[in-house]
Amino acid sequence: MCGIVGYIGHREAYPIVIKGLQRLEYRGYDSAGIALYDGNNIKLSKTKGKVSDLKDRLESEISTDGTLGIGHTRWATHGVPNDVNSHPHYSNSGDLVIIHNGIIENYDSLRKELIKRGYTFKSDTDTEVLVNLIEDVKKNEKTKLGKAVQIALNQVVGAYAIAVFDKNKPNEIVVARLGSPLAIGIGDDEFFIASDASPFIEYTKNAIYLEDEEMAIIRRGKDIKIRKIKNDALVDPYIQELQLNLEQIEKGGYDHFMLKEIYEQPDAILDTFRGRLLSNEAMIKLAGVEDNMKKFLAADRIIVVACGTSWHAGLVAEYIFEDLARIPVEVEYASEFRYRNPVITEKDVVIAISQSGETADTLAAIKLAKSKDAFVFGVCNVVGSSIARETDAGAYTHAGPEIGVASTKAFTTQITVLTLMALRLARAKGTISSSEFRHHLIELETIPSKVEEALKSDTYVQTIADIYKDATNFLYLGRGFNFPVALEGALKLKEISYIHAEGYPAAEMKHGPIALIDENMPIVVIATKKGHYEKVVSNIQEIKSRKGKIIGIVTKGDKSVKDLADHVIEVPETIECLTPLLTTIPLQLLSYHIAVMLEKNVDQPRNLAKSVTVE
Ligand code: F6R
Repeated sequence: MCGIVGYIGHREAYPIVIKGLQRLEYRGYDSAGIALYDGNNIKLSKTKGKVSDLKDRLESEISTDGTLGIGHTRWATHGVPNDVNSHPHYSNSGDLVIIHNGIIENYDSLRKELIKRGYTFKSDTDTEVLVNLIEDVKKNEKTKLGKAVQIALNQVVGAYAIAVFDKNKPNEIVVARLGSPLAIGIGDDEFFIASDASPFIEYTKNAIYLEDEEMAIIRRGKDIKIRKIKNDALVDPYIQELQLNLEQIEKGGYDHFMLKEIYEQPDAILDTFRGRLLSNEAMIKLAGVEDNMKKFLAADRIIVVACGTSWHAGLVAEYIFEDLARIPVEVEYASEFRYRNPVITEKDVVIAISQSGETADTLAAIKLAKSKDAFVFGVCNVVGSSIARETDAGAYTHAGPEIGVASTKAFTTQITVLTLMALRLARAKGTISSSEFRHHLIELETIPSKVEEALKSDTYVQTIADIYKDATNFLYLGRGFNFPVALEGALKLKEISYIHAEGYPAAEMKHGPIALIDENMPIVVIATKKGHYEKVVSNIQEIKSRKGKIIGIVTKGDKSVKDLADHVIEVPETIECLTPLLTTIPLQLLSYHIAVMLEKNVDQPRNLAKSVTVE
């Protein structure tokens, strides 16, 4: 997965493209490059490293003038991250320049064919194969760039979002998509291209999101022609008005996006249930559920498919749906589900959870479920994303853009949407009384202010982070609704601080992990008052007698755990099924502060990318 940006219009392209790449670095950041065209010369600079490295190099290497430009920030798939494999890539003649996000699966056979025809390759990338394939078609068919792109893409197997221009056509960029996102911003006599709308939000609020198997020919000062890649049919452009604003995608005074996003959770959760949770009327309104109520009520079971943090949100949902709505739930890693011939019928409801809406494995799992006639419901954050469009119905989380690679507000808003769904279905099925239902709504409404209160533990969490930052291993334990929170806490620590951590159901500890415990092992135990509190307290005793260091996440006013633990972090009291929305907060803060103290790149941890659009 990679980020792509482009501009064609009357302004200098460079400042727009470089800033756009910085905003898209969450999609990949192992190398970056830009090509600018001033009508006479193409100027291209690329490098291994981050966009800031590119900026330093480019400004001393080439002149930055030109009103046409394309740029790329890479997360390597074919070929190691190095200068040569970075995009953009030239065709052999030097006339065509391309940027590409995705994977050309049949690149090897295409490459061999092109080598036979005399083409040579500098890089190991599938992208350089594609640009030469386009050049080959253009030459052989004596056709224009747009047509050549179309013919070439019909020979390609895989996924792509591309932007390509031709030295002989200074007023044109051709773009296309299949399986990787591509948005076109429409300004006054100018056009912007990007993997999402963030690079052009300050210039225009009007955008077209290309559908899969569509391409567009974008001409300076003219309109856009969109065609189907397969059959050449013209498509009427659907122009959307964007809801995003600039403030939402900048750091707003915080040191890192991750911290900003942790602190945004009270508002993000409020936005998630705004207009949906109507406690005065004792109602939940979720159009996607309402319109498909029959399907939900007839479902034999719900299958959740997701990856990473979204999978953890799915595990919380399993507990909530089964407890409230009495619907059996299975939670599947999308990457396993898609390849293991699962039993799926038309009586199954599949819920796909994804922040980005672009995760390749989750998308493939959705396609598989649809091919077996299951009804697929999406819980996504990014509006207009591939998963949002591929599912039969859905509910957005409305968390706003999440830029930090480690997911925070996406997790809590996913749980919020899933809780609303479970409550609505419980009411429809009669598995919850009207007074209980009302009580849950009232309690859910208090969650934003309780998250606010939980955030006040920040200074104390920093003290704890300082004590344990040099530990080499952590254990996270929780039970019931908070077992998935333990998994999520461990994942957060691993991915941004590179400290090994494991999450476990607290009672499983004695079946193995207890052997790890000694005076050097910090163990984070979620021990809130409701649920299996006494049982967890017994687990804490077991740790204590083996000299483990205990960091308890407890309900405000707790005494028993306080007496046993080395440290306790309090969260406000709430009903049991809502506790994950609060207990997760100190765990996010703990991983954040440890990573900062260890001087790690919190927003862009090594080897990771924000949306995993490759399997
Ligand atoms: C962890 C994290 C990842 C994502 C996973 C799925 O902090 O962010 O584990 O949760 O890659 O991504 P989405 O939700 O975009 O499908």
